[in-house]
Amino acid sequence: MTLEEEISNRRTFAIISHPDAGKTTLTEKLLLFGGAIQLAGEVKARGERRRARSDWMKVEQERGISVASSVMTYSWQDSTFNLLDTPGHEDFSEDTYRVLTAVDSAVMVLDAAKGIEAQTYKLFEVCRLRDMPVVTFINKMDREALDAFDLLDEIEQKLALDVTPATWPIGMGRDFKGCYDLINDRLILMQAADKNIRSEGIALEGLDDPRLSEYLPQDRVDSLREQVEMVRGLCKPFDRQAYLEGHLTPVFFGSAFNSFGVRDLLSGLRDFAPSPGAQAAVERQVDSKEPKLSGFVFKIQANMDPKHRDRMAFVRLVSGRFKRGMKLKHVRTGKTLSVHNAQLFLAQDRELAEAAVAGDIIGIPNHGGYKIGDTLTEGEEIRFTGIPSFAPELMQRVRPVDPMRAKHLARALEQLAEEGAASVFKPYLGADWIVGVVGSLQFDVLADRIRTEFNIPVRFEPTELYTARWVEASDPKVLKQFMDANRTALAEDHTGQPVYLARNHWHLNKGQDDWPDLKFLKTKQEV
Ligand code: G4P
Repeated sequence: MTLEEEISNRRTFAIISHPDAGKTTLTEKLLLFGGAIQLAGEVKARGERRRARSDWMKVEQERGISVASSVMTYSWQDSTFNLLDTPGHEDFSEDTYRVLTAVDSAVMVLDAAKGIEAQTYKLFEVCRLRDMPVVTFINKMDREALDAFDLLDEIEQKLALDVTPATWPIGMGRDFKGCYDLINDRLILMQAADKNIRSEGIALEGLDDPRLSEYLPQDRVDSLREQVEMVRGLCKPFDRQAYLEGHLTPVFFGSAFNSFGVRDLLSGLRDFAPSPGAQAAVERQVDSKEPKLSGFVFKIQANMDPKHRDRMAFVRLVSGRFKRGMKLKHVRTGKTLSVHNAQLFLAQDRELAEAAVAGDIIGIPNHGGYKIGDTLTEGEEIRFTGIPSFAPELMQRVRPVDPMRAKHLARALEQLAEEGAASVFKPYLGADWIVGVVGSLQFDVLADRIRTEFNIPVRFEPTELYTARWVEASDPKVLKQFMDANRTALAEDHTGQPVYLARNHWHLNKGQDDWPDLKFLKTKQEV
């Protein structure tokens, strides 16, 4: 296959959802259809363990598992799907945001009884910032659900997004019979007896096909015809361009638990979802089909083997083809390295990456050389943009129990900041470090990691601080004046960039009002 063909067959996506909507179940069924796993229950068992707060540390120590499930590659009907996992707990939403920078589209899973929930909304907003195409899967139709029209209306209203149903449900709850495929005019009936069955559907000549009555009672046939007529009148016809631009979402109804609707979702992803496209870099746009390889680090996973302090840098390939042993330039440091030990991720296993193309994710084991946002190329000086750091919402002071280990702690914190596990600030005055996170569970994980990986017992202590803002100025003189006048409220992050630590909302506003020529940034782009 040519490079172009291989790239066109790639679908790199993530699933966004509120906890409990069915992301884990759907993931498992997608893998089952792709032939990547044989048994139901495997991904699920992991998802459950990951969700349980009390089990978090244990799971963290079993990093092998969470790494294997970070990226799941499977094939279906000549297409290769790279499904990137997003952490389920909202305290790790920052990781989720970064994962979303490495995918070309998303699947939004809704619980049919609940519609759009808080976390769905938040994650959708991130997709919107990137104009990312989103396919919707309305799950749990085998339970009591909201009315299908109301669900569509809710998506449209709450997300300001056009909707086009791709399938239409026939009944719900105990009465759920299946769906009518509006795009291909097929009837797809659910066979609840076997949860792992891959129903193909029954091909019909449209809704007027008399055979419809062979499969459904007449009252169902009548109401299906009526509803389909209504929905076709109310919703815009499917417009792939609008979907690709992020203005319209095709909606599939199903029941992941019963493997129902999963096949249709997969074929929808194959038919409509974008293959890897162009990516913006500071210098230029990079097209996926350019022959030379480029890619960026969007995630760093540490401590896969607790005995060795190893880290895996996850690289999204933006263009070209990767071959084992090839020489790649690490643009930030200017170093060239031969990559022999990159990994590919299958459903449960990792394997040595012999070859990969744009859209794929490879994992490069390293001992601290990479940061989130780093670019790799075959020599060209380009830096990809758009990988954000977020201003922390919770900040604590961290001290080593043994004051003699302050230097070691500094190094540990720097590594954790490079991985994106936390923001780390060194105030200009005082000896302590401030650690900022988005969700409080991150503090627990950090304390545990500093103790186990770096062997430094630490104490986290609350601070009076409210939030942090990266400070930028076009005029270095103004920045200097500001810094001289505000030394007590300033720190630098792990890259040396100045950061304003605000005690409260008022303090933050005052800083901004008093220094109108400065930018107080809530997010920082890693370039
Ligand atoms: P998450 O990853 O989004 O958090 O959700 P997950 O897949 O773990 O599903 C959450 C719960 O919803 C699970 O029930 C799961 O079995 C159930 N579920 C998922 N899809 C469907 C569906 O199509 N229909 C129905 N009726 N339920 C579904 P649980 O009680 O937490 O676990 P379990 O006891 O079923 O294993």
